[in-house]
Amino acid sequence: MAYDLDQFISDCRSVLSRDPGPAGREEVRVRLERLLANPDFIEQHCGEHVPRGLKLLYEDPELKFQILAHNNDKARVSPPHDHGASWAIYGQATHYTDMIEWEREDDGGDPKHAKLKPAKTYRLNPGQAGIYQDGAIHSIDYPDYARFIRVTGTNLDRINRIRIDLKTGEVHQMTPQQAT
Ligand SMILES: [Fe+2]
Repeated sequence: MAYDLDQFISDCRSVLSRDPGPAGREEVRVRLERLLANPDFIEQHCGEHVPRGLKLLYEDPELKFQILAHNNDKARVSPPHDHGASWAIYGQATHYTDMIEWEREDDGGDPKHAKLKPAKTYRLNPGQAGIYQDGAIHSIDYPDYARFIRVTGTNLDRINRIRIDLKTGEVHQMTPQQAT
């Protein structure tokens, strides 16, 4: 039987209760790729018939992690941003997402400015998942109709996060659901 959402949720629960750190999250990333290989899951949650928008597929009442379907219809380039004190795993469902992981060139001492340089650039194709540990800064760039599943350590709308204007280096606090 194909690996489905219920099995994924149950695996996330057992893995993250045992190891909520980077190694446990990596196990979640690998399992997310397994889930993305299930065509029924993709069709049901990210198929073309699914209306555009952000849909919460699951929130764990105890461990607080979330599984979200980002069903986009318009292309978008996000500014570099972090996920606050949380982590995020992006799993591509359809089309692709170009990722840039950024490094800070400054010492992080100025809360209003940041100087960034690209550290890693790659494309997530359908079935592939990337992980962004706490404090990591990345930006995403996807075409029309690109859809992805995102697993986050907690509800990101409840924590402080930053985005960085690449031209000016200005650091801004993010508002809920402003970016991914
Ligand atoms: Fe992100």
